[in-house]
Amino acid sequence: MILRPAEFQPWSHGGSHVPETITITDDRTGKTVTVPIEGGVFPSSALRELDPSLYMYDPAYLSTAATQSQITYLDGTNGVLRYRGYPIEQLAEHSTYLEVAYLLVNGELPTAAELTTWTDDVTHHTFIHENMRKRFVDGFHYDAHPMGMFVSAVAALGTFYDGAKDIEDPAARKHQTLRLIAKSPTIAAMCYRFSVGLPFNQPDNDLSYAANFLNMMWKIGDYEVDPALERAMDILFILHADHEQNCGTTAMRVIGSSHADPYSSAAGAASALYGPRHGGANEAVIRMLTEIGSIENVPAFVESVKKGEGRLMGFGHRVYKNYDPRATIIKKAAYDVFEVTGKSPLLDIALKLEETALEDPYFVDRKLYPNVDFYSGLIYQALKFPVEMFTVLFAIPRMSGWLAHWEELLDEGQKISRPRQWYTGADERDYTPIANR
Ligand code: CMC
Repeated sequence: MILRPAEFQPWSHGGSHVPETITITDDRTGKTVTVPIEGGVFPSSALRELDPSLYMYDPAYLSTAATQSQITYLDGTNGVLRYRGYPIEQLAEHSTYLEVAYLLVNGELPTAAELTTWTDDVTHHTFIHENMRKRFVDGFHYDAHPMGMFVSAVAALGTFYDGAKDIEDPAARKHQTLRLIAKSPTIAAMCYRFSVGLPFNQPDNDLSYAANFLNMMWKIGDYEVDPALERAMDILFILHADHEQNCGTTAMRVIGSSHADPYSSAAGAASALYGPRHGGANEAVIRMLTEIGSIENVPAFVESVKKGEGRLMGFGHRVYKNYDPRATIIKKAAYDVFEVTGKSPLLDIALKLEETALEDPYFVDRKLYPNVDFYSGLIYQALKFPVEMFTVLFAIPRMSGWLAHWEELLDEGQKISRPRQWYTGADERDYTPIANR
């Protein structure tokens, strides 16, 4: 959207009015275009007013906003994260994951009656078709990675519902959203139980979202979910629910823009999350801490990272150039969990690593701080989750964020995503017969 001059907002700078605009001149033609800067952003399509064959080159979207969004506000410089305007700290303290999922998807916090209906609806959509398990999940190899299974199962789930492809129908969309949020923990627990050869536990409708998930994961004989661990799980779900235009959410939007069904789109988003530079980082953190082995080895490890021999996993972020606010909340939650489970032997190594890195100019100069994954893996490990499940634990709550973005994209009628490229390959050349190559 290019705002026209009448809508320009002049702002006061040191007493003088400076227009919030940017003027770009094409030096080849002398043509000029003036465009408004709004919220720190200007529409790059203005460049094409100068020359329709001109494109911006921005691999990995380092300086490109690919969409407008009203869902999550992130100020990486100051370490601020808000869902629909509500600070993440307040949501983590006072809310529940299901309430947050409602907020993300519907835009407002629910009333008491709305929350009751929503919770009831989610709770009564947790079961999955028996053939999903018998015919589909049982077909995986015995040692399949649970995240690979999760990705495939989410896509497969869409084939069970007639309405999955009715994306023009708002009621059908809401129904798929409800199903995906409700069934994600069921699929996740099912994939885990299969990968360790345990029988699948059916959902228990008397339990909360988090407790039901823990119950499906761990119940063998008598098992009762510890309320402190249930709350910790719920907080982790809240913190992971959305994070604006990250790699997975962008994948959701790109795939959704082709009007693929939400199951296929969410499977694509989950695939993006699978990578070690995204949702796979918490798994990599535990492997890294285990490899470091003891506090004494921390300085040598930090030196090796500085020499480019690897990355400090759980550190750094494309957007946060400050402490990730989620890491602060998770660090505190970790201590609450350790009170129940006993302290993780890796915690001291993590604390020492954080302290060493935050005093080292390499990390300070590059503004590399702990991110959400630095401490989440320690909690997951204390809750007895194997590392292979860590990214799945990220994917369960991120489903609500993905679906909120998917709804927003469709509501706004966004065109199909189709970036341009800067071709740097060979010029035209003639085919050479194989005998002459
Ligand atoms: N350890 C050591 N050096 C690093 C790290 C790190 N974790 N992260 C960035 N750097 C250095 C990098 O080598 C580069 O240095 P130089 O300028 O000398 O070449 C500089 O910092 C900028 O790095 P970059 O790769 O250009 O930054 P990016 O914005 O492309 O990458 C990142 C962001 C998250 C992929 C990266 O910081 C990283 O690989 N971190 C480790 C993996 C990790 O923890 N990922 C989880 C991200 S949070 C979860 C989520 O929201 O998905």
